[in-house]
Amino acid sequence: MKSKNSDLQIGVIGSGGRGQLLGALAHRPGRGARVVACCDVSDATLARNRQEYGAGLFTTGDCRALLARPLDAVIIATPDFLHEAQAVAAAARGLAIYLEKPMALTIAGCDRILRAAARTGARLYVGHNMRHMPFVQKMKALIDAGAIGEVKACWVRHFVGHGGDFYFRDWHAERRYTTGLLLQKAAHDLDIIHWLCNGYSRKVNALGGLTLYGALPGRKPREKGPTRPRPDEMQLAAFPPTKMRGLNHRIDVEDLSSVQMQLDNGVFATYAQCHYTPDYWRNYMVIGTEGRLENFGNGEPGTHVRVWNRRKQGYDARGDATYRIPVSRGTHGGADPMIMAEFLRFARHGGKTATSPLAARESIATGCMATESLRAGGALRMVPRVPAGLAAHFRK
Ligand SMILES: NC(=O)c1ccc[n+]([C@@H]2O[C@H](COP(=O)([O-])OP(=O)(O)OC[C@H]3O[C@@H](n4cnc5c(N)ncnc54)[C@H](O)[C@@H]3O)[C@@H](O)[C@H]2O)c1
Repeated sequence: MKSKNSDLQIGVIGSGGRGQLLGALAHRPGRGARVVACCDVSDATLARNRQEYGAGLFTTGDCRALLARPLDAVIIATPDFLHEAQAVAAAARGLAIYLEKPMALTIAGCDRILRAAARTGARLYVGHNMRHMPFVQKMKALIDAGAIGEVKACWVRHFVGHGGDFYFRDWHAERRYTTGLLLQKAAHDLDIIHWLCNGYSRKVNALGGLTLYGALPGRKPREKGPTRPRPDEMQLAAFPPTKMRGLNHRIDVEDLSSVQMQLDNGVFATYAQCHYTPDYWRNYMVIGTEGRLENFGNGEPGTHVRVWNRRKQGYDARGDATYRIPVSRGTHGGADPMIMAEFLRFARHGGKTATSPLAARESIATGCMATESLRAGGALRMVPRVPAGLAAHFRK
């Protein structure tokens, strides 16, 4: 690992899209970290990367060539179906890894990544940036301080208002590239449910289907490859969502789903996801033996967390305590700058982090088994635990 004063040498795999943002946050020449290599299949992206990071940047379309460079850390921000092979290859080199969520498409794939990192001691970090969102951190702090007593239930509603803009246009819409949106999109929420409730799902069942986007016209096959440039903006005029056009020619993931879970500590949780609501946000509600709490907003001005912990008749919209969440600078409610700062510290020094590769794997395991249940008509599924030896390694 680097001497204390020199910059970590960082490579970015998948340096457009999400990787462009993460690379920009990591690039702090003279202040601890420098992006020195980028890998992407898009020549236009690599040309932009050279402008962003300087002409001396190593660029390639082959991640093996990037991994052969003298690096300290890699950021892997490619589409989901590439995560496993790229993370395993980076771990084999012993590099510190920032791996975007979802960790992999399968439980076995997650465990192969964990095993590869455990074998070389590579520092593995998964990009569950919601753990750095101030409203989530406030809910976690209130629960841990006993504001609602012992947690018994968690109900989450996920209104994915931009589903048609971002999740049904390219690889996201196909099972072979994502497994399903209960991993691709819900990996965040399943992780936060586990974190707030202090346990991991062991039993799941789910129902859902492709209820709207599958019937829309004008879906032509792409000329090549599963990716296409993401639109920068939502098509706000395309509402109701039946007006959406230009969607992926093949859509076999669900646009509406709901999951029930029982955690290893007995907590019951539910999660519901819809990809064509007029608005976009996540609503978390946690019920304990001495009250309940709920968020309103996800970091924009006016976001607050409300606690109800006194008995009353009927609904009291004001609750018994309100905690206003200050607006933070940066994308995803200020979470992105914080998660990258934490990764750079972890890559250099190791130590405790708010995110956890074990928890990341547990969210994928829950999403995989929920997807399996949904596609089997709602049958109960057990979520397999992380093999004990691996779990012990990452708990250290
Ligand atoms: N944590 C978050 O909040 C968050 C937000 C957005 C995306 N993501 C995750 O980031 C990842 C990337 O998402 P995206 O929307 O940027 O995807 P994308 O389709 O825009 O692809 C990202 C980049 O990878 C490149 N790429 C594709 N195939 C490649 C290959 N074989 N080798 C190298 N580069 C390749 C693309 O050209 C693109 O520049 C996904 O796993 C997604 O789940 C996370």
